Amino acid sequence: MAAGTNPANESPSLDQFWMPFTANRHFRKDPRMLVGAEGMYYTADDGHTVLDGTAGLWCVNAGHGRREIADAVGEQLRTMDFGPTFQMGHPLPFRFAERLSEYLPEGLDRVFFTNSGSESVDTALKIARAYQHARGEPGRWRLIGRERAYHGVNFGGISVGGIVNNRRRFGPLVGGVDHLPHTHDIERNAFSVGLPEHGAERADELERLVALHGAETIAAVIVEPIAGSTGVLLPPKGYLERLRAICDKHDILLIFDEVITGFGRTGDNFATDRFGVMPDMITMAKGMTNGAIPMGGVAVSREIHDAFMQGDARGPGIELFHGYTYSGHPTACAAGLAAMDIFEREGLFTRGRELEDYWGQRAHELANAPNVIDVRNQGLIAAIELAPRPGGPGERAFEVFRHCFDQGLLIRVTADIIALSPPLIVSTEEIDRLFSILGEALHACGEE
Ligand SMILES: Cc1ncc(COP(=O)(O)O)c(C=O)c1O
Repeated sequence: MAAGTNPANESPSLDQFWMPFTANRHFRKDPRMLVGAEGMYYTADDGHTVLDGTAGLWCVNAGHGRREIADAVGEQLRTMDFGPTFQMGHPLPFRFAERLSEYLPEGLDRVFFTNSGSESVDTALKIARAYQHARGEPGRWRLIGRERAYHGVNFGGISVGGIVNNRRRFGPLVGGVDHLPHTHDIERNAFSVGLPEHGAERADELERLVALHGAETIAAVIVEPIAGSTGVLLPPKGYLERLRAICDKHDILLIFDEVITGFGRTGDNFATDRFGVMPDMITMAKGMTNGAIPMGGVAVSREIHDAFMQGDARGPGIELFHGYTYSGHPTACAAGLAAMDIFEREGLFTRGRELEDYWGQRAHELANAPNVIDVRNQGLIAAIELAPRPGGPGERAFEVFRHCFDQGLLIRVTADIIALSPPLIVSTEEIDRLFSILGEALHACGEE
């Protein structure tokens, strides 16, 4: 493309784009712009390179600028740019769902496509309620989420989610929702290597909710196996198993929101595999196309799927009154298929486990840096939690974020928690570089 014709090369006005989850006014005064990406690095608009410590937003698992994905998308756009999937079909989503089924747990391999994690969550919640109808239990409509959970920003997701700011100005939310307590217990579990020892008993709170509401009113429980957006809250050892057992006892569906934990992030295909606990549905997005094209999906057990497929199949009757114009979009499927080729060829589904010890060791070396009150890790995920500055929660971590960016490292901060989740192609040298920049930043921002 000739210089000047690429809109990304021009300096745009910052007034029109209302940025998501951003302090817009602050950003306009102090913008941080990325203009290129290749492998493990972004390039900022002033030309400095930035090591990607967060795989974009937990999505670019195979690293940036993968030509195979670009070629597959370009080819698909030229072959067929769009094709409807309502009472019509085209081969791509069938092919992609079949391909995904190779990586999904056995029996959990019927896939409904969406365009984002938020849509995946709302889709899963709707399938849970409709499934209870389909199997003759329409009274089961309650949904149980968890404190400090992030399930996207649509109404279903913020209702079962547990982040106060994401909920409080948008009421009334979806009715019939209750919450389990979160599992973060820094007093007992600080500086755990891998899964924390304490807290499995917090799953027993589900028994209390069952006693309060009656099992016959509860459709599903939804949790993130690892809560990412609220700062990497790991499941205590035995917690997910206990949740599964209580759901089984009361015939309640269990949904794992794997929007960030899927596609190799925990060192296995899904956290479901890593933790050996089988849900009834898995929501996914992000790594599904390596972040190249928006896409999400819900993997559903055959039992749930088949409950919708009973009755008269001769007519054109629709089994589930739900779907998006872009469910199974051809270019997204093409990107996803190309991404799966890369993940498989480069062993990225399991690379997180191979690097986990080294990664965790380097992360825990920051334990003595100023203001650090916890370090935790699992797969290629880590969090460094800082003591909040008195009267200024979040300020300290934001300063570290800013400092890191200037020094060439992208991290993600939530309040005073720094979350790290690099592309799974990261080398040990890049891990060293990441923690070295972060360590310097913690010291530089640590002096009061
Ligand atoms: C666990 C989880 N669920 C849902 C979402 C929402 O995904 P999206 O931003 O694609 O709507 C996210 C996003 O970070 C997430 O982490």
